[in-house]
Amino acid sequence: MAQSPAKANLASSAGARGGDLAHDRAAQASPAIAAAARIATAHLHEPGCLLPILHAAQDELGCIPPETVQTIAEILNLSRAEVHGVITFYPHFRSEPAARHVVQLCRAEACQAMGADALAGHARARLGCDFHEHSADGAVTLEPVYCLGLCAQSPAMLIDGRPHARVTPQRFDRLLGRALEESA
Ligand code: FES
Repeated sequence: MAQSPAKANLASSAGARGGDLAHDRAAQASPAIAAAARIATAHLHEPGCLLPILHAAQDELGCIPPETVQTIAEILNLSRAEVHGVITFYPHFRSEPAARHVVQLCRAEACQAMGADALAGHARARLGCDFHEHSADGAVTLEPVYCLGLCAQSPAMLIDGRPHARVTPQRFDRLLGRALEESA
């Protein structure tokens, strides 16, 4: 979702008032809050900086901890609800760390037309969890994604960021088993 120009300007030009204060407070708070403040401040003057900040925060912290939302909002001079709304809009962002392995199944149209629903059912049963949850053994997080650019070879998925195409339930089991073995 692209931010509107007004929103982008709002986010990118905001820091002057609340930003310094929020940054100072964050430096004395938890390491996650301090990291979020550092990241937000570093990106503050980029147009439409909220998404780059959220990506950078998740890359560094493994997720966007709920306690960091207020700090990010203050530095960008946005409301907490606005930042929370963006985080929850995009399936990519998570509020708690993922498991050791992340399986991301494409849920977009081309993949659905080629059996992604059945594959999702198989994945849920195999892992013992739903989307946005960890597997029963805690080793795998199951997440939806919406188009991986592999539509001509659907259904598609990522395992730990590695793309796989024409995934059948049998292939899903094989690929997942291999990933689990590699980390054993
Ligand atoms: S719709 Fe699944 S890869 Fe494009």
